[in-house]
Amino acid sequence: MSYLCNTILIGRLLFYEKHIVNLKLIFGMKNLFVIFWLVSLPIVGFSQDLLSSDGNLKMKFALSKEVQRTISVIPVPMEYELQKGYFSIDSLTLFSDVSSPKVKYLIDKKLTQLGGEGYILEVTSRGVSLKASSEAGLFYGKMTLHQLYADNKVPCVRIKDKPRFSHRGIMVDVSRHFFSKEEIKEMINWMSVYKLNRFHWHLTDDGGWRFEVEDYPELTKKTAFRSHHLWREWWKNGGKFVSVDEQGAAGGYYTKEDIKEIVEYAADRHITIIPEIEFPGHSREVFVAYPELCCAEKPYSGGTFCVGNDKTYAFMKSVLNTVMDLFPSEMVHIGGDETNTAVWKNCPKCWGLMTKENMKDIHELHNYIIGEAEKILKSRGRRMIGWDEIANEKRDKSSVIMSWRGEQAGIDAAKKGYDVILTPLHYLYLDYFQASPDKEPLAHDGYTPIEKVYTYKPIPDTLNDEAHAHILGIQGNIWTEWIPNMKHLEYMAFPRTLAVAEVAWSPEEKRSWKSFRNRLGSHIVKLQDAGVNTYKLSSDIESVVNVDTVRKKLEVSLKCEREDVEIRYTDNGLYLTRKSALYSWPLVVKDSLCVKAAAFKKGNIQGDIFTQHFYYHKGIGKKVQFSTRNKCGKILADGYIGGKTYLDGSWVNLHGDQEFIMDLGEEQEVRTVSTRWMQLRAGARRHLPQQVEILFSNDGENYFSGGIVRKKSLKDIPALQYQEYIFNGHWNARYIKMKVKAGDGGMSVDEIIVM
Ligand code: ACM
Repeated sequence: MSYLCNTILIGRLLFYEKHIVNLKLIFGMKNLFVIFWLVSLPIVGFSQDLLSSDGNLKMKFALSKEVQRTISVIPVPMEYELQKGYFSIDSLTLFSDVSSPKVKYLIDKKLTQLGGEGYILEVTSRGVSLKASSEAGLFYGKMTLHQLYADNKVPCVRIKDKPRFSHRGIMVDVSRHFFSKEEIKEMINWMSVYKLNRFHWHLTDDGGWRFEVEDYPELTKKTAFRSHHLWREWWKNGGKFVSVDEQGAAGGYYTKEDIKEIVEYAADRHITIIPEIEFPGHSREVFVAYPELCCAEKPYSGGTFCVGNDKTYAFMKSVLNTVMDLFPSEMVHIGGDETNTAVWKNCPKCWGLMTKENMKDIHELHNYIIGEAEKILKSRGRRMIGWDEIANEKRDKSSVIMSWRGEQAGIDAAKKGYDVILTPLHYLYLDYFQASPDKEPLAHDGYTPIEKVYTYKPIPDTLNDEAHAHILGIQGNIWTEWIPNMKHLEYMAFPRTLAVAEVAWSPEEKRSWKSFRNRLGSHIVKLQDAGVNTYKLSSDIESVVNVDTVRKKLEVSLKCEREDVEIRYTDNGLYLTRKSALYSWPLVVKDSLCVKAAAFKKGNIQGDIFTQHFYYHKGIGKKVQFSTRNKCGKILADGYIGGKTYLDGSWVNLHGDQEFIMDLGEEQEVRTVSTRWMQLRAGARRHLPQQVEILFSNDGENYFSGGIVRKKSLKDIPALQYQEYIFNGHWNARYIKMKVKAGDGGMSVDEIIVM
């Protein structure tokens, strides 16, 4: 039985929340503990053989063949050797605040090669020895011990462990939806179990201001509560703030006492809280309380600070000083992202500043206000973090770039000698869908299933060693526009947070998706046993296509998130049954193939039946010319069908009426042409075209129509749908033109299939 099951049996004393308290007590009693350990040393003398006389590690962790077993610890330790046998002990003794002769903890300052967070854990049939050079290291060793403990025993194992990165973070946005003190503590607690050490607290944004500032009391009085709890309802209904005593007021804020309590709670778990205050954009709420701080000087007139107004800097100074008083973190985040700089163009004060400072470009104003924040923080020995929009050569070298729009800004900054935290949205945004959007609760538009998060490689090959050193770490971000409560937050965060933890902690060469997935199942069960509303790995099938234009074929791989199932498929149009072929190798498609597949366990179908046509079609590699733009044509004829996010590089995203022409290179017989469009009713939304008309030509000038297909009327449908606009007939043509009548907004199309 797992350590969590044990936890439940003994009143969850050890694990969720309370076991951490026990740890705190243990660390608080460090001195007593060390004395106890010294007294007990002669009794159980095994731990000294971990160290040579000069204090260096002499353990060798080459795995002998007979002990090549695995442990299910997440994140996987840097080195471990599982040995035969177990140390039997009851959980109360193992995790008791009062140490026993057989369970020994030691802080040994000589263990410097494991850094400030590493540890050595040795479990033999006689007892447990845990050593580290710091309390943080002991804490992480203890977390490993917790994960190893099951059925009143711990497997015999030697572990030498330390983290890959110093910044291992999760960000939670408490502006779009407010999360209570207790809920924030819960998140911090689980982070610590998985050895994450930075909680980035997004405290202010357009959705509400969330902490007290003495000099600006109207912030929490006027903009911490709003007319609707659900962000999307509130936004749709005008986004108005209300005072706390108004009927139905929804929201909240943290008092100074709350913040102190949370900071301390996090510190007990070796987590640093990095607060974020947004400047100069994403600040609509500020101007509801203090309209004079924006260019129009009116509430609800925009979300950008006036950079030419001295009052802005008085505000900034007061707020950042309050933040520095409350948060001991060396780093403070000042936002800097997605600023609507256009408002500065029409503001005399902003123009005045531009003239005074001899600025040539409106964007220099952005740099100016960020520079002011940098000075305020630096004057008190702090370092500024900002989203990657702040990156430029004028930044002080102490400032840190948080690369979110991809990795490039981070790579460029690291090469220039800036420290960088990587949080690229297509891998590490945990508010994105984690499974097919047609089955999931509404989420932000992207698609980051756990495998995608896990397979993120934080240090690109293009970085030299010097630049490597500037990559401080990685972070998963949870924006909460679509996450209205804690249960939903848990669902989005877990188990993806575990993938973030392993990417951040474990050496690249020790990571493997297969191994992680094998270990993950038991953690999901444990988290659920402890009451966490995790996402459960999907039983559905996904395909991955490789287009081989040299051999003119597609290779189609099928996969399932669950590891405890087998995939069966048919490609011959027959029904799928438990006796259908067992999938083991990519399917080859030379012209077209209709694949049906599903996951089976013990002969029973698990998820949905996957049905998809794959084509190596006549259009692959052909030129596609757009009337509205001159790039992106290749994507429509590359053989890759788009995935579940229109941001995956296989979709072409368009706005307005379109016309595009495919040149087949020579006249060809064409019997079917189809295009697939996405409809998404969440996030940035995608809309189907009203209609698509197809036209053919041989000379590229004189076209004749091959028909029109209109949008289906789709009512009460799930978030994600596709519509194929299919044209069947018999034509001979070199050029195929599509005229697209726009839908109600942005549209996405993935491929023009020509058969
Ligand atoms: C961001 O996602 N706007 C940093």
